[in-house]
Amino acid sequence: MKLTLIGTGYVGLVTGTCFAEAGHQVTCVDKDADKVALLNAGGMPIFEPGLEELVGKNCAAGRLCFTSSTREGVERSDVIFIAVPTPALPDGSVDLSFIEAVSREIAAAMTGYRIVVDKSTVPVNTGEKVAETIKRYGKAGLEFDVVSNPEFLREGFAVGDFMKPDRVVVGVSSRRPVAAMQEIYAPFHAPVILTDISSAELIKHAANSFLALKISYINAISALCEVSGGNVQEVARGMGMDSRIGRGFLDASLGFGGSCFPKDLSAFIRISETLGYDFGLLKEVQRINAAQMDRFVKKITDTLWVVKGKTLGVLGLAFKQNTDDIRMSPAIQLCQRLQHEGASLRVHDPQAMDKARAVLKDVTFVDQMDDVATGCDALVIATEWPVFKKLDLERARKALSHPIIFDGRNLFDPAEMERLGFLYKSIGRK
Ligand code: UGA
Repeated sequence: MKLTLIGTGYVGLVTGTCFAEAGHQVTCVDKDADKVALLNAGGMPIFEPGLEELVGKNCAAGRLCFTSSTREGVERSDVIFIAVPTPALPDGSVDLSFIEAVSREIAAAMTGYRIVVDKSTVPVNTGEKVAETIKRYGKAGLEFDVVSNPEFLREGFAVGDFMKPDRVVVGVSSRRPVAAMQEIYAPFHAPVILTDISSAELIKHAANSFLALKISYINAISALCEVSGGNVQEVARGMGMDSRIGRGFLDASLGFGGSCFPKDLSAFIRISETLGYDFGLLKEVQRINAAQMDRFVKKITDTLWVVKGKTLGVLGLAFKQNTDDIRMSPAIQLCQRLQHEGASLRVHDPQAMDKARAVLKDVTFVDQMDDVATGCDALVIATEWPVFKKLDLERARKALSHPIIFDGRNLFDPAEMERLGFLYKSIGRK
């Protein structure tokens, strides 16, 4: 099928590329002409494992192209996907101005029937507004359908998640776009959940909020483990083997971050409020998440007593493994908290250092993870990069002025760390 993606951020670029890989003819539109030029020249604006190769392959095969003209994108395709950012406003609600602007541009460029699919994460009832906007700004009598088709891919695993989805959610208000949507997703061999538009929009916010809730739940258990002598990983294992619960998203940490969970939680709380429901449960999820970071910082300050004047090594700046994304990164927040306490920092991340340079000032960026500990009073692990498990611990112990490691991601075994001579403090474990 001929498909157009408007917006080439994480979601738009991965979606467009994977659709091309599945055999569709895809046009990706972005108003950022520099980004379009970079993509057309074979460059990659983000780090996402496997994506660059797929973009190159599908461009070469003539199934994928990039343009900055929305008109061109709308003219070329039968189905137009909106994948533009929906950032948070200061009050926690969602800025829908990009969605509105794109809806108007699509309306202005439409000359015949089109299916307009919302892929961006939006509050419930946005689909209705998109339909109203297209009707208002398009030519009289234009035929179109609006569909809600939320995305569930994780950064760092986005290509795999897209190619092998657990399910595909398609929210419609008439039968007319259903066959096309089924055809688009047929190559992915996943169950297609057909719903009304509001339910599809709610599924996205409900799913992300539930995953955030799972993390806060296990983080609350980690606080209990610390005072009772339990081990949060054992508790998670014991809970997770119950198939009704599942082990996923039960890794205790210094808190969740990223461009999705914090924003989607605030947005869901706000839209619920607007609809007359006080979603107190989700406010508690936010509170536990903030408290988890506070508890981790306290663990560091309690151990080091005076942080001012000390040098700390920080491993990890991205909000999680496999990405260079630092938006709402707990690791960055932790660095800033430690700087506020007066610490000097030596930091390293396998992918996110370039992006971190723009927000972290007065820190030493270290190219090799094994060099970070040099001259430090303690080491802090802030991101769950698997490569950190390969840290040369013997070298780190010798390089540190005192062999102290604070692990915000539970990457090492406490008994082994003790045997190696470390004072090792992690999350929810003795
Ligand atoms: C999340 C969802 O997992 C995706 O399904 C969704 O499509 C996406 O948001 C979105 O709305 O676009 P993502 O933000 O890429 O994906 O990252 P996750 O893997 O969900 O991790 C989010 C945060 O939770 C990270 O900071 C991670 O370190 C933390 N986390 C995750 C934990 O602290 N513990 C866990 O057990 C799992």
